[in-house]
Amino acid sequence: MASCPLVTTAGPEHLDEVYAIEVASFDRPYPRWYIKVLRELAGDLFLVALCGGRVAGYAVALPRRWRSCHLASIAVAPSYRRRRLGAALLASVEQLCWERGMRSVVLEVEATNAPALALYRAFGYLEAGLVPDYYGPGRHALLMIKPLEPAPVCRLDP
Ligand SMILES: CC(C)(COP(=O)(O)OP(=O)(O)OC[C@H]1O[C@@H](n2cnc3c(N)ncnc32)[C@H](O)[C@@H]1OP(=O)(O)O)[C@@H](O)C(=O)NCCC(=O)NCCS
Repeated sequence: MASCPLVTTAGPEHLDEVYAIEVASFDRPYPRWYIKVLRELAGDLFLVALCGGRVAGYAVALPRRWRSCHLASIAVAPSYRRRRLGAALLASVEQLCWERGMRSVVLEVEATNAPALALYRAFGYLEAGLVPDYYGPGRHALLMIKPLEPAPVCRLDP
């Protein structure tokens, strides 16, 4: 796993595999054309995690007002889950957002999505509200937010 994952900017050649992960991960996946639009809108905030040259996961964020960005989607292929690819993607999104002057990340997550909630809570995301029926009747979203901080500086004490 030395080179896995390599987190890098998504190119057009990755989008079919991204879409396959999207379909495998969500019961109401984004359509293929919208994945393409997301890449055009997000630019280098559309990331893929590559394992052995294959796309094993992706994350995409969109800049918003008030120096904030919105995590539009994150997913890891089922056979690659629990290998910290989601963590690597989320950390990379946060780092890039910070470098571009954004100071918070916001996202929605289905209130019953235990793996995603565990990931976000482990990363310090805070619950900011409930959006009733966001994913369909009776399927509520939690709105979560994380204020970004500069990466810790490694100091060597004399
Ligand atoms: C959510 C998702 C992206 C996590 O990706 P992943 O690569 O499996 O997660 P990681 O291995 O990086 O996990 C990082 C941390 O998140 C938490 N976590 C992730 N999955 C978990 C699970 N199934 N159960 C409990 N905790 C979990 C743990 O704290 C984990 O740290 P640990 O491994 O040291 O315990 C993945 O489950 C997924 O693609 N789900 C379907 C799509 C989805 O729901 N996306 C979120 C939409 S809001």
